[in-house]
Amino acid sequence: MSKTVLVGDDSVQMDLFSLNLKAYVGTETIILDSAEKLRMFLELDTSIDLIITHDKIDIEPTAQKIHTLLQKKKLSVPLCVIGPKDGTIKCERFLPKNVDIKELIKTVARIFDITAKDMIKQSVGDYYPVPISFFSRMNIPVCDVFLRLNASDGDYQYICKFKAGNDLDSKLLGEYQKKGIANLYVPSISRLKFTNNLSEQTIEILKSATVTPDSRISTADVAMNLMVDELESVGLTENTAELANNCINSIQKTIKEYPKLNNLLERLLNSPESWLYKYCQILTFVSHHIIDNSDWGSDEQKEKISFVVFFQDIAFMTKKLNPEKLAPIHSKEEFMNASLEKNESNVVLQHALMAADLVREFNRAPMEADVIIRQHHGSYNGVGFPDSISHNISHLAQVSVIAQSFTREIMKINDINTFISTDVIKKLKIKYPTHRLGKIVNNLSTLKF
Ligand SMILES: [Fe+2]
Repeated sequence: MSKTVLVGDDSVQMDLFSLNLKAYVGTETIILDSAEKLRMFLELDTSIDLIITHDKIDIEPTAQKIHTLLQKKKLSVPLCVIGPKDGTIKCERFLPKNVDIKELIKTVARIFDITAKDMIKQSVGDYYPVPISFFSRMNIPVCDVFLRLNASDGDYQYICKFKAGNDLDSKLLGEYQKKGIANLYVPSISRLKFTNNLSEQTIEILKSATVTPDSRISTADVAMNLMVDELESVGLTENTAELANNCINSIQKTIKEYPKLNNLLERLLNSPESWLYKYCQILTFVSHHIIDNSDWGSDEQKEKISFVVFFQDIAFMTKKLNPEKLAPIHSKEEFMNASLEKNESNVVLQHALMAADLVREFNRAPMEADVIIRQHHGSYNGVGFPDSISHNISHLAQVSVIAQSFTREIMKINDINTFISTDVIKKLKIKYPTHRLGKIVNNLSTLKF
């Protein structure tokens, strides 16, 4: 296995790079945060195949120092530098400061001479897991679908249960769901074909004039999860953008189809859809209500907040994290009390910034959506949780902060009758004492349960 050293001090970015390089290029990664640490590392181990470094870390000219170090040690290890071109550094490739995962993977794959086909195999093995809920709207699978069993030798055994081109046996699928089976598997080689077909079918249902309100909700949940899956594996593509847009439109249509919050909650509380989809759906409803009941509200603001709500906590939707645990953290105190792992802490503190960076690549994003996403916990720079909400943040970000606090309380209940809206509003007035924020809280009092 090849060995890649990543040099940088942004631990979230380094973890993300490491995770993707391991998954797609199959390289072992070592993360270091200075040229000096690399020097010490090379004292013990020179068997590395690639170094990727930021040009500077704080005031240290890291790339320059590494270049000198390699020359001194007469090591011909390829070097990639994230930063502007510098003729004095012998380097395999300079990558832009805002390099995205896709570009990084492509560059490293080229250096290691790994093909796209190798990468698909590398990232997922021979079979690719697909959440079982994705099959619930599928009539005919485009490729064979497998069930994974534990074999006696400790390995896995994959058994074909649904044949490509045949009607999918919904009764059998229902039995698997009842047994609590979380994933079915498709051959990795057919994964792209399968995903594209599923995306097309999902979008078709969401666009259909005859889809029922109930079915729209379950399909939008699939679309949201499918979109995140795609985002994680291939990045932001036309396909993921199309899925996201259809999902956001559907969430807005659902608000029209369930104009009373208690009817929407009856449908969503205790239902099988994912926690984050439900949170998004209810939060969009609450945000629209605030906007509808203000003297400045417009359809354009509602469109904007719908987009923002959909993307703002997307960093928690990766398979490795639990959104239900992380998304409700809204303050320093909650953050301290949450007993988080290091990778969870990093994502919680930076998720607003990460999501803002992601939507800047999205060419159909409403104006300033990235700014509102960055500030959706009241922090101007999108990192951490401030003690109080600054007046400098965007007005829609202030709406989002209040709507999130209210929605979070709703998400704690299993029975609508146990939710006392007036008590929650009283608490919010104490938490957000300024006149401007108090006015936003007041708009919640007209919500009918
Ligand atoms: Fe958030």
